[in-house]
Amino acid sequence: MKKVALIFGTRPEAIKMAPLYHALKNSKMQPVVIATAQHREMLDQVLNLFEITPDYDLNIMKERQSLPELTSRLISSIDRVFAEVSFDFALVQGDTTSTFAGSLVSFYHKVPVGHVEAGLRTMDIYNPFPEEVNRRLTGTIASYHYAPTEEAMKNLLKEGINRKNVLVTGNTVIDALLWTLEHKKNDVQKFREDINVGKGDYILITMHRRENWGKPMSQVMKAIKDILAKKPELKVVFPVHLNPAVREIVYAELKEHKRVILLEPLDYLPFVSLMEGSKLILTDSGGIQEEAPALGKPTLVLRKTTERPEAVKAGTAKLIGTERTKVVEETLRLLNSPEEYKEMAKAANPFGEGKAAEKIISHLKNVLGV
Ligand code: UD1
Ligand code: UDP
Repeated sequence: MKKVALIFGTRPEAIKMAPLYHALKNSKMQPVVIATAQHREMLDQVLNLFEITPDYDLNIMKERQSLPELTSRLISSIDRVFAEVSFDFALVQGDTTSTFAGSLVSFYHKVPVGHVEAGLRTMDIYNPFPEEVNRRLTGTIASYHYAPTEEAMKNLLKEGINRKNVLVTGNTVIDALLWTLEHKKNDVQKFREDINVGKGDYILITMHRRENWGKPMSQVMKAIKDILAKKPELKVVFPVHLNPAVREIVYAELKEHKRVILLEPLDYLPFVSLMEGSKLILTDSGGIQEEAPALGKPTLVLRKTTERPEAVKAGTAKLIGTERTKVVEETLRLLNSPEEYKEMAKAANPFGEGKAAEKIISHLKNVLGV
C-alpha cells in the first residue's frame, strides 16, 4: 500500500489536515501521521475531536521556543522518521515552521510534496512573520500545489509554477467546519449557555501573530476597554492563545474587566459555537478569516495585510490594523450602523463547498496510480 506522510504540528494545521486524514483512511493509501507537536495542548485538543492517532509524535514544543531552535529541532526529528519509513508522498499544510521543515526534509529524501493551502501571499516577507516566507519556501519545494481559490492559483502561476501542477480545491477548513456543524449540532448550541453569554451580545476576539506581540497587541487591548466603555450592554469573549508572549499582555490589560471573559484555548467545537453566536469577530487569525465568511460573521482583521483577500472581497472581512483609535472607530461604526452590519453579515463563502479533501485525495490517487 502506498504510504502518505501527513506532517503537521499546530492547531490550525491539524484542523485543516483532519478531513484529509479521514479521506485517506477510506482510500487504498495509508496515511502516516507525523505530529511534530510544535503545539502540545492546542494540538491534542484537535487530535481528540477528530480522532486522529499520530503514528509518530515528535513532541517538539518547548516554552517560548525561538524560530531557529524550533526549525532545527523539527528538521532533525522529522528526518529520523524519514530515515526509518519509506514514503511515497508527503502532504504538508499552510505556512507554519512545521510545514516548511516537513517539506524540506521530504525534499532531502526525494519524496514528492503536496502543499495544501498553496498560493496564499501578502507579498510582504515580514507580514505575517515568518509565515509568508514559510509558504513561499514550501511552494518552491512542492511538486503539487492545492490552491484553495483561483486567486491563490494566480499567485502561483505568477511565480512560474506550471499550471498542470496546480489544483484549485477550496480550503479543507470548510470541510472541517461543515463536518463539525453537521455532526455536533447539539453540543454547539449548549456551549454559549455554559459561559453565560447570549446570541449576539458579545464580541469574540483572538490574537496571536508574532508581528502583533508587544505594542500592537496592547493597543488593541486598550481599544477593547474603550469599546466596552461606550457599549455598556456588550461583552467580550477572548480565548487566549497559550503563547506566554500573548498571555502576559492580554491578562495584564483585561483580567480585571467585568465584561471580558478570558478563556483557555477552546476545543474546535465550542469555538465554532462562539463564532456562530457572536455579534462580530476581531482577530488576527488566518483560519478564522476563512471560517467567518462561511458563517456570515462580520470580521475586523487586526493586521496590516492579509493573504486572504477573498474574505475582504466577499464583504465579510475588513482590514483595520492594530492602532487603538482605528480599532475603536471601526468597531463602533459597525456596531452603530445596521446597514453596514447587514451588508457584512451576508454569508458568502469563497473557500469552497467542503469537498477540498475529496479533490486532493482523488488527485493523489492519480499521481500514485492507486
Ligand atoms: C504558530 C505558527 C503560526 C500559527 C500559529 C497557530 C510558526 C512559527 N508559527 O504560532 O504560523 O498561526 O501557530 O496558532 O510556525 N504554546 C503552548 N502550548 C501550545 C501551543 C503553544 O504552551 O499548545 C506556547 C509555547 O510556549 C510555545 C509558544 O506558545 O513555545 C509559541 O508556539 P509556536 O508554535 O512557536 O508559535 P505560535 O505563536 O503558536
Ligand atoms: N480555534 C479553536 N479554538 C480557539 C481559537 C481558535 O479551535 O480557542 C480554531 C479556529 O476556529 C481556526 C483555528 O483554530 O480553525 C485557527 O487557529 P489560529 O488562529 O491559532 O491559527 P492561524 O489560523 O492564524 O494560523
